[in-house]
Amino acid sequence: MERLQKILARAGIASRRASEELISSGRVTVNGTVITRLGTRVDPFEDSIKVDGKRIKGFERPVYLMLNKPKGVLTSMDDPEGRPTVAGLLKRSKERVFPVGRLDMQSEGLLILTNDGDLARNLMHPSKKVPKTYLAKVRGVPEANDLRRLENGVRIDGRKTAPAEARIARPGTNAWVQITISEGRKHQVRRMMDAVGHPVSKLRRIRLGGVSLGKLAVGEVRPLTEAEVARLKRAAATEKKSGKRP
Ligand code: URA
Repeated sequence: MERLQKILARAGIASRRASEELISSGRVTVNGTVITRLGTRVDPFEDSIKVDGKRIKGFERPVYLMLNKPKGVLTSMDDPEGRPTVAGLLKRSKERVFPVGRLDMQSEGLLILTNDGDLARNLMHPSKKVPKTYLAKVRGVPEANDLRRLENGVRIDGRKTAPAEARIARPGTNAWVQITISEGRKHQVRRMMDAVGHPVSKLRRIRLGGVSLGKLAVGEVRPLTEAEVARLKRAAATEKKSGKRP
């Protein structure tokens, strides 16, 4: 709940002072009732606020969701070719959310969706170097030297990848590698593993900016907790120096 004049000012209707005058002169209604008392508290996300009969826009409750994207689903809210998209896995809601970054069609795992454009932009901005952790099932078992190359940078598209962390998560004939990168180049993990001769057969993102997928089932969605949103905001806030491991 916030003071009406503050909401009008924040919505860019008028200055705080001029907003007070709009209210006092009876030009503002809340849910159809004229409000003239200054300092009346209203909920900008729920209440219908009108000035001279026109509803003020621009207030949307921030929504932060986590989805465990299944493979075969496009990271997009609609697809002109009619392929299944992540939109089909979300419950209908008033607020329109958008995916933060992309997972390939054949990748699965943690996808954040939000209507908080600032957070989404910052999480994806290269200067923020937000760490993203993946589990990749690869062909064969990378040796210590391959892991070192992944960590120090391999060349893709003629440009070396930034420092990363890589380790064997599960050995076997075909190992699972856990890799943390702080860039977001197209098909990056797949191309990094190709570069060391261990192509990926399965790829799952398990962590982004301090938020983990945990036990969320494939195809399921849940809202982020306040603590998780705070962690994401912290991860997206700071510009990091280059050359450091994520
Ligand atoms: N790297 C990839 O190669 N694919 C993804 O979906 C994400 C990171």
